[in-house]
Amino acid sequence: MHFTKLLAAAGIASVATAHPGPHHSPSKRELSRRHDLSARCSDHVGNYNAKRIKRNLHKRFPGSTSNTTYNIQTEGSYYNTIQNDTCILTPEVTEGPYIWPQSQTLRQDMTEDQPGVPLWLDVGVLDMETCEPLEGVLVDFWHCNSTGSYSSFTGLSPNTPFAELLEQLNVTDMATADLHTDDTTFLRGMWPTDKHGLMEMKTVFPGFYVERSIHIHVQVHTDWTIRGNGTMAYGNTVSTGQIYFDEPLSQKIMALEPYVSHTEINRTTNAVDSVFSGDTENGYNPIVSVVPADGNDVTKGMIGYITIGVDKTAVATDE
Ligand SMILES: *[C@@H]1O[C@H](CO)[C@@H](O)[C@H](O)[C@H]1NC(C)=O
Ligand SMILES: *[C@@H]1O[C@H](CO)[C@@H](O)[C@H](O)[C@H]1NC(C)=O
Ligand SMILES: *[C@@H]1O[C@H](CO)[C@@H](O)[C@H](O)[C@H]1NC(C)=O
Ligand SMILES: *[C@@H]1O[C@H](CO)[C@@H](O)[C@H](O)[C@H]1NC(C)=O
Ligand SMILES: *[C@@H]1O[C@H](CO)[C@@H](O)[C@H](O)[C@H]1NC(C)=O
Ligand SMILES: *[C@@H]1O[C@H](CO)[C@@H](O)[C@H](O)[C@H]1NC(C)=O
Repeated sequence: MHFTKLLAAAGIASVATAHPGPHHSPSKRELSRRHDLSARCSDHVGNYNAKRIKRNLHKRFPGSTSNTTYNIQTEGSYYNTIQNDTCILTPEVTEGPYIWPQSQTLRQDMTEDQPGVPLWLDVGVLDMETCEPLEGVLVDFWHCNSTGSYSSFTGLSPNTPFAELLEQLNVTDMATADLHTDDTTFLRGMWPTDKHGLMEMKTVFPGFYVERSIHIHVQVHTDWTIRGNGTMAYGNTVSTGQIYFDEPLSQKIMALEPYVSHTEINRTTNAVDSVFSGDTENGYNPIVSVVPADGNDVTKGMIGYITIGVDKTAVATDE
């Protein structure tokens, strides 16, 4: 069982062997299963999110209530209610072709020298079996930079459709292909959850690349161990998925430098993305809730909240 997982984590094998493209959408049955899990934990999630958002605002902006017009009870301009829904990630969701565990390092700021709007990702992880926070699980992120490039794959054009890219590289078998081009590590990082099931990662708002809407890849690992250089030597992957942003927010950020200079291709929106599920109602929600970091202006930086539901049952039955 562990061997299979390590193999899957080490490459892109699981992506293309079963599916034609680099990404695939979950089935109707899978979406319905997630909905049921999420709905069952709805009250817990509501309480959990409410506590987190208050706690974190106090932590980050001591004295902010008296110095600004920001009202912590109304949560800023993008979301005026606490969402009870959860982003349920499961092992079957695609990890995409740009997974590269060798470059994922243990740190709480994965920005390096990448320009862009600062984003503090504040992630809570709940066990969907018990509806309780999960402590000590490793939350692992990777995403492209403000003009669409992934670290470790900087030699690949973010503007070339994936099928064309494979053709150029003479790749016929994705199961054995190694597309990585270098050892850069920007915008890749991981950090464990605390006793409240929370972790935070500083990054920049992602840009976009061809055929995909703006997203961040996430995995959750249990039973992990870390090497001397900060990468994961061993771990069980219980969840894989992608998180997204609201279209109005994306429009606002993409109008800024350096994002706006990415003109070679048109951006794919969530509405037409092949992976994004339009089914964000009924308790399954992969969209990051955002509040401006200064209480006013998201373009100066933002805190993104998301609750990830981990389904350990799915691991047990899938593997
Ligand atoms: C959301 O969670 C809160 C807090 O537990 C609860 O009071 C409320 O009824 C929930 N709403 C829905 C729609 O489940
Ligand atoms: C209040 O805001 C002003 C202007 O943004 C800033 O210079 C000042 O340091 C802030 N004071 C406190 C107590 O946060
Ligand atoms: C960490 O060490 C592993 C194993 O030696 C290596 O494959 C990987 O490239 C290293 N990663 C970084 C970021 O140094
Ligand atoms: C994004 O990464 C690519 C590849 O390293 C680089 O050429 C590009 O300049 C980066 N974008 C920005 C805005 O720095
Ligand atoms: C792909 O194959 C063609 C024809 O055999 C060759 O000209 C080209 O250099 C190959 N490209 C790569 C990246 O290996
Ligand atoms: C983007 O879309 C517009 C409108 O459909 C089209 O005119 C334009 O050529 C597209 N640009 C690129 C780079 O594909």
